Amino acid sequence: MDFELTDDHRMVRDTARDFARREIAPRAAELDKSETWPSGIVKQMAELGFLGMAIPTEFGGAGLDTFAYALVMEEISAACASCGVIMSVNNSLFCDPVYKFGTDAQKQEVLTPTASGITLGCFGLTEPMSGSDAQTMVTGATKVPGGWLLNGAKNWITNGPHADHIIVFAITDRSGSKVKHTAFLVQKGAAGFTQNARDHKLGIRAAHSCTVFFQDCFVADTAVVGNVGEGFKVAMATLDGGRIGIACQALGIARAALEAATAYAKERKSFGKPIAEHQAIQFMLADMATQLDAARLLTWRAAWMKDAHMRHSTESAQAKLYASEACTRIAHKALQIFGGYGYSTEYPVERHYRDARITEIYEGTSEIQRIVIAASLLRA
Ligand code: CAA
Repeated sequence: MDFELTDDHRMVRDTARDFARREIAPRAAELDKSETWPSGIVKQMAELGFLGMAIPTEFGGAGLDTFAYALVMEEISAACASCGVIMSVNNSLFCDPVYKFGTDAQKQEVLTPTASGITLGCFGLTEPMSGSDAQTMVTGATKVPGGWLLNGAKNWITNGPHADHIIVFAITDRSGSKVKHTAFLVQKGAAGFTQNARDHKLGIRAAHSCTVFFQDCFVADTAVVGNVGEGFKVAMATLDGGRIGIACQALGIARAALEAATAYAKERKSFGKPIAEHQAIQFMLADMATQLDAARLLTWRAAWMKDAHMRHSTESAQAKLYASEACTRIAHKALQIFGGYGYSTEYPVERHYRDARITEIYEGTSEIQRIVIAASLLRA
């Protein structure tokens, strides 16, 4: 077992760290406050190759791997969790399934511009009445000559208001005892494809999401991703990778909270000495650092397994479960160390505290991760 980063991984992490500290961190509070989509930063991330990190260069990607993606995701998210999830959705939830399951034509026409960041992608699985129980979606696609007619709605679509492409999941066969789903690529501007105004959220306020609607929206047969009837597996396999991205987002938020709390504890004095000299604060910092390291090790293992083409459903679920819950605890303690100032928008920890919360919810709640982990235990 080797815990050393390779020179390539160190280089990409340092590039991301430098970029995130210089270009993103100084703007993060304002982007959050004004709920502004960070278009300039998205463009810069594209130029750095961060929007299609593990996609081969022949399809517009950076030609790196999931491990490099994990390192960069942590750096970007430490500066701005909104920028982190924008990057994660494009990499994990859009480029990854199109690369893994798409046709050559889809890779040329859709993946190549999206992995290079010329266009942006999003992922449409969740529906107003089917979040955790994703199979029970109502969106359907009916076969017509040359393609399919899509009808339904998908909500909480991160990147939705700005994306050029969506990979969307719909029921295509209700005849058997189990419904069958199919994945489709739909382009913004397609007739019958609309969206509503963006959502307003507790955290990750600069990462816009919205509900999208399909009304007799025609998609050609050539837009099917993977095999007809196997879309649910495409969605689940995609989320195995996506959950690594969200675990990394949680690492970034948690690290930023820990760094802020450590620096503050050295400066702030009470009872005649810096609060860092009180054991009560030291114990909090020690627990936060230990949980962050444990979360990172789980996340890196899942990323390593994905790169080794090993099934990583359970390990991704464990990484996301632990990292997201640790992130919430770490942000909570960071705010406690700041005391009243932590509750103020003058300091960054209230943003970390709000941003942390979503990591336990999207791409499968903590309860869903436990279901995935328990299912693998009970199967064995
Ligand atoms: N890879 C490949 N195939 C998989 C799989 C995986 N990881 N997991 C399950 N499957 C297959 C199963 O083998 C099964 O195949 P068969 O029908 O051939 O037997 C099929 O998929 C159905 O599997 P289950 O019976 O396990 O499915 P289920 O209905 O019990 O649901 C679940 C399983 C884990 C609860 C799933 O519904 C789930 O993950 N729910 C959470 C949904 C979610 O994460 N949504 C996030 C939306 S995206 C988002 O949040 C984006 C954003 O904003 C950033």
